[in-house]
Amino acid sequence: MLQQKELLENQSKRLQYWHWCLKWYYRKDPRSTLKKKSSLQRNWEARNNEMDEKSFLEKTSVMLKNIDEFFLGGTFGFNYVKHRLLQEDNWRKKNVTGEIVLITGAGSGIGRLMALKFARLGAVLVLWDVNQEGNKETGRLAKEVGAVKVHTYTCDCSKRQEVYKVADQVKKEVGDVSILINNAGIVTGNKFLDCPDSLVEKTMEVNAMAQFWTYKAFLPAMIASNHGHLVSIASSAGLHGASGLADYSASKFAAVGFAESIAIEMRGLKKTGIKTTIVCPYFINTGMFDGVKTKSPRILPILDPECTAETIVKAILQEQLHLVIPRSLYVITTLKNILPMKIGSLFEDYFGACQSMDYFQGRLKKD
Ligand SMILES: NC(=O)c1ccc[n+]([C@@H]2O[C@H](COP(=O)([O-])OP(=O)(O)OC[C@H]3O[C@@H](n4cnc5c(N)ncnc54)[C@H](O)[C@@H]3O)[C@@H](O)[C@H]2O)c1
Repeated sequence: MLQQKELLENQSKRLQYWHWCLKWYYRKDPRSTLKKKSSLQRNWEARNNEMDEKSFLEKTSVMLKNIDEFFLGGTFGFNYVKHRLLQEDNWRKKNVTGEIVLITGAGSGIGRLMALKFARLGAVLVLWDVNQEGNKETGRLAKEVGAVKVHTYTCDCSKRQEVYKVADQVKKEVGDVSILINNAGIVTGNKFLDCPDSLVEKTMEVNAMAQFWTYKAFLPAMIASNHGHLVSIASSAGLHGASGLADYSASKFAAVGFAESIAIEMRGLKKTGIKTTIVCPYFINTGMFDGVKTKSPRILPILDPECTAETIVKAILQEQLHLVIPRSLYVITTLKNILPMKIGSLFEDYFGACQSMDYFQGRLKKD
């Protein structure tokens, strides 16, 4: 208790300092509009008066988080404030006990690891995968770690009618899904002209279009109860193109655009109880991208699956809008967006956009 109080006092002091810095910045900078300055100050004073210390910290954290996400986490400064000064780990996380969590592509990789984490948190699991064996194995492991209820379904998410059929079955047998995690994905990894048409189509169907059908199946109940969470496991390839990933990258850009648009639609409908999270990780060592190389292992490391799943689940519990992993990608993405295109391209080349797929084997090719 005492420790927590000290922690809050320290955080409060740091925030006062941060507040003072902001005020100083807006005073000194003649380009900053008066409107901005006064609304910021008005807000701050009102908040200071009406909040106790804890809710003040939480709301400030959320405000910084939103600013951060607005600029796709554009500066180290905001990340520093979020994670060091505000000690993000101490924030409130939502309770998912009893929530019905559906994960597509739960039969291996990140899908399986997320399933095990939600199992430990007391969620009811609905696991979908086209790979029946892998999915059953995830179900078995989830029970081993203490899952309350696990339901596995074999479903090819790329097939619209199959998605609707299995979704109806889930509604009857389990109930309305409240957290939908679209995670199923495939990659061909060929240079575009070497990629058979059928595989290009399949990539779009699994990585992008499957999300349309699952949202159509489960979103209406979320809207009716104004409660739910939509999660899209996209990719950094949904923010940056790369050689050898043309179809994959196109499907992930589509997934990001789709998920972002639905988030805006929910805001427009004032369905504030429906949360959304878009996840864009760099290469993860799950086997899907076996063989790929990073040109800059310190800045853009190949990600560890366990840590990645942990970070994703944490972001879901904290209702984060965007998650880009590793953090350096926030900066690279911001630079790409604000620099002249030619300089942006030089950056992408520097980080290996032309060569990182050169040694790609992937699971299919390796098997
Ligand atoms: N591994 C990476 O480097 C990486 C990087 C960024 C984003 N991602 C994305 O993360 C997600 C998970 O990737 P992963 O690394 O765990 O891969 P993975 O291959 O281990 O898991 C993908 C799962 O999706 C399932 N699946 C494939 N097609 C399906 C379909 N039509 N219907 C239902 N299930 C289907 C597979 O059977 C598999 O279990 C994917 O969407 C992927 O694009 C992966």
